[in-house]
Amino acid sequence: MGIPPTAGLISFAESDRSPLSIRARALVFIDPRSRRLRDEVEALAEGEQPLLIRGETGTGKELLARHIHRQSQRSGLFVAVNCGALSKNHGAAELFGHAGGRLIGPSSRAGWLGSAQGGTLYLDEIADLSLTLQRRLLKVLQRGEVQREGSNHSLPVEVRLLAASSLDLSLAVRAGTFDAELFALLQQGELLLPALRERPGDILPLAEYFLGVYADRLDLPLPELSEAAQDALLAHRWPGNTRELENVLHFALLVGKGGVIEVNDLQLPV
Ligand SMILES: Nc1ncnc2c1ncn2[C@@H]1O[C@H](COP(=O)(O)OP(=O)(O)O)[C@@H](O)[C@H]1O
Ligand SMILES: [Mg+2]
Repeated sequence: MGIPPTAGLISFAESDRSPLSIRARALVFIDPRSRRLRDEVEALAEGEQPLLIRGETGTGKELLARHIHRQSQRSGLFVAVNCGALSKNHGAAELFGHAGGRLIGPSSRAGWLGSAQGGTLYLDEIADLSLTLQRRLLKVLQRGEVQREGSNHSLPVEVRLLAASSLDLSLAVRAGTFDAELFALLQQGELLLPALRERPGDILPLAEYFLGVYADRLDLPLPELSEAAQDALLAHRWPGNTRELENVLHFALLVGKGGVIEVNDLQLPV
């Protein structure tokens, strides 16, 4: 019964699914489109306004959000929450915290929002939040205070919201599944991360970056990419974007054994 203890809350929030610490990472932005985005990011990072980061899965939305958090010099934590992974019954308690009680577990919890106090709350796939939670989140942001589940008084909160979506939220608004007012709030600053195939100038620099990072990490000599392998990387459509590129090169490094990575080592679908 109840939601699991929050002992792992921060470490889960700060963990990532890639084998390499996402916090230690550089942002490789070489293509002219990425450079332009980088300028937009620099202009928006220091403010306190909520931002919406749009882009297909694997384009680097979370990495960008962490970068914005670092740039903003906020003193609190960066807390990343996948909205689709919130519990169906206890989503509100997970997000907004709870005061403790018979049904939910004995001790009170800060919730993701409270954990991000003074910092940044990154809500991944925000369209996966129920309308109820969207509206409650909007109120919290507007009032700067939160009422935990099972509590009848409000606590002040100051978090910066960075929301990510792979969908066009305006369509969700029109379909009635996304709150128009929350959408308006998020539109104060919108950053669009183009798909990797739309910024081909990033492909080889990213490939070399990942080879360098993984060679270093696995204590392997840094291989080169053959000309044909480079052409193959440039020709692929990268439906999984940068995450797919990272996986392909990590794998190639492991199977390549030796100085040069050839097309076959990339195991790209034909
Ligand atoms: N511009 C970039 N420079 C370096 N690494 C990147 C870049 N963009 C994405 N990555 C890496 O690609 C992977 C996917 O990025 P992520 O931020 O998780 O994407 P998304 O949140 O859009 O699904 C991560 O391991 C991330 O560190
Ligand atoms: Mg992600």
